[in-house]
Amino acid sequence: MKLTTSLGLIALLVEAALGQNFPECTRELLRTDDCAAVVNPNACYNQFRWNARTLGCIEGENDTQRKQRACKCCSCVGTVMCNWVTQNRYCS
Ligand SMILES: *[C@@H]1O[C@H](CO)[C@@H](O)[C@H](O)[C@H]1NC(C)=O
Repeated sequence: MKLTTSLGLIALLVEAALGQNFPECTRELLRTDDCAAVVNPNACYNQFRWNARTLGCIEGENDTQRKQRACKCCSCVGTVMCNWVTQNRYCS
């Protein structure tokens, strides 16, 4: 296999392992209620350090809605949140 081919394959595998690409945090996205519910509880995230209880920080009627919001707006909080939702398989 040529070197360039194997590098391309590795990049593909890494991308697959990371699961998916999350939407970029645009100003429009940030303005939505969904994103406000995810971005506002920043202090809460720092307190729980990204474990199972972190989901409770997000504003929402139920966990289903919290997970959806987290998946949609994780990029507005940062890579740490996108990694967290991926690891917990919150995004389908
Ligand atoms: C969670 O809340 C959303 C939004 O109100 C609603 O559409 C959904 O049916 C609820 N899911 C459960 C399991 O209660």
